[in-house]
Amino acid sequence: MTEMVEGLVPKEIVKELDKYIIGQNNAKRMVAIALRNRWRRQRLSDDLRDEVLPKNIMRRGPTGVGKTEISRRLAKLAKAPFLKIEASKFTEVGYVGRDVESMIRDLVELSVNMVKAEHYEKVREKAAKQAEERIMDLLLPPPAMKPPPGIFTEGRGEAVTHEFPESYEHTREKLRQQLAEGKLNSRFVELEVKDKTLPIGVISNIGMEDLEINLREMFGGLLPGKKKKVRMKVPEALKTITQEEAQKLIDMDEVTRDAIAKVEQSGIIFLDEIDKIASRERGAGPDVSREGVQRDLLPIVEGSTVSTKYGVVKTDHILFIAAGAFHVSKPSDLIPELQGRFPIRVELESLVKEDFIRILTEPKNALIKQYIALLETEGVKLDFSDDAIEEIASITVSVNERAENIGARRLFTILEKLLDEISFNAPDSKEKEFKIDSNYVREKLAGIIKDEDLTRYIL
Ligand SMILES: Nc1ncnc2c1ncn2[C@@H]1O[C@H](COP(=O)(O)OP(=O)(O)OP(=O)(O)O)[C@@H](O)[C@H]1O
Ligand SMILES: [Mg+2]
Repeated sequence: MTEMVEGLVPKEIVKELDKYIIGQNNAKRMVAIALRNRWRRQRLSDDLRDEVLPKNIMRRGPTGVGKTEISRRLAKLAKAPFLKIEASKFTEVGYVGRDVESMIRDLVELSVNMVKAEHYEKVREKAAKQAEERIMDLLLPPPAMKPPPGIFTEGRGEAVTHEFPESYEHTREKLRQQLAEGKLNSRFVELEVKDKTLPIGVISNIGMEDLEINLREMFGGLLPGKKKKVRMKVPEALKTITQEEAQKLIDMDEVTRDAIAKVEQSGIIFLDEIDKIASRERGAGPDVSREGVQRDLLPIVEGSTVSTKYGVVKTDHILFIAAGAFHVSKPSDLIPELQGRFPIRVELESLVKEDFIRILTEPKNALIKQYIALLETEGVKLDFSDDAIEEIASITVSVNERAENIGARRLFTILEKLLDEISFNAPDSKEKEFKIDSNYVREKLAGIIKDEDLTRYIL
């Protein structure tokens, strides 16, 4: 089902997101509509299709309520190149001036890998077969192409044959069977592999990507076929050779073309922490670079061409989803041009007690399920009663109110504290079953409930 997300209707997308994210229905609807719109756009006539630009989304809401989580889940759902990046990265010390276009290059890289993986699936079987043959050649080198002694009488040179003697074929078949049965897994073979390491220490660094690529190409050309011999076990060698064979079978030009088309037509960039670059004050200090980053973002969000090592990419139809808590700054602190490029605004709501109860228990990866599974590996059984869950949720709300409101992240710290003792003693605990009810919760968390100075518990 997940690979069909392009064809999922909004309701289905929301349903998929519901498996992991509680509430925040507006935010889910918005991304569902945005995804569906891309599907619709693909079905338009060429001239109209070019006109329909993505409606970028700006997501705002307090910390720990699911802004990033929704996108993380969407990334897994969307069968599109999806890059998640913190806008604040571009202002970090050492990153100042790092060109914002690099995110498009990263997205293309991602897309190339995606498409390559798809193509790899198509040739895998064939590559595996070829790899098997090559391993056999290594394990049992074919006899030299000359008549084995004793078979042909002297002077009858025309009898040279390329048929292998039957005994060889027989042995090879037996070997093939052993290989298939994994009986040769501890045998070693010697492989010639391409030496990919660069002759000098060229480090990929800020802004160095292109330089590095050029150097790689240069040295690749300078040192053709530099190979080294490596000894490895059969299974590892099989893997290596399969990849090598697959590489030969994959048409990289086609992969590149597909990958760029995918980025241009369905790429999504999630710009997290956008509030961290929101500031319009001019003057000395980091703010200058913040506004600089915003200005650099403009053409990319608006649509421009970016050159990458795979070719030129047009960014017009890439969907941008921005998110930020906007504690200190407001969306209106962004430069107006950038604000205008995120026409769809969604507010995420603060989580309430009922949400916490559901977050604890409902999602596929719910925390309670995680803890139960983790402790089960030690033979310890946890049994949470409903009133225990409710108590945990209440305490979470109360701590969020009294200390800083960190949303659902508070659940992590509360649960760790609650299960601290069981967790610590689990390996050698005599008790193998724990009933966790509201009394247990209150008892274990008594310190937190009473203590006015919560800072000790804010991890
Ligand atoms: N609505 C929700 N449903 C389920 N789990 C949630 C929800 N909101 C938050 N969580 C949990 O809390 C964690 C933190 O949420 P998330 O990373 O989405 O915060 P955020 O809204 O992006 O906050 P910030 O502004 O600090 O980046 C998630 O990994 C998830 O486990
Ligand atoms: Mg976040």
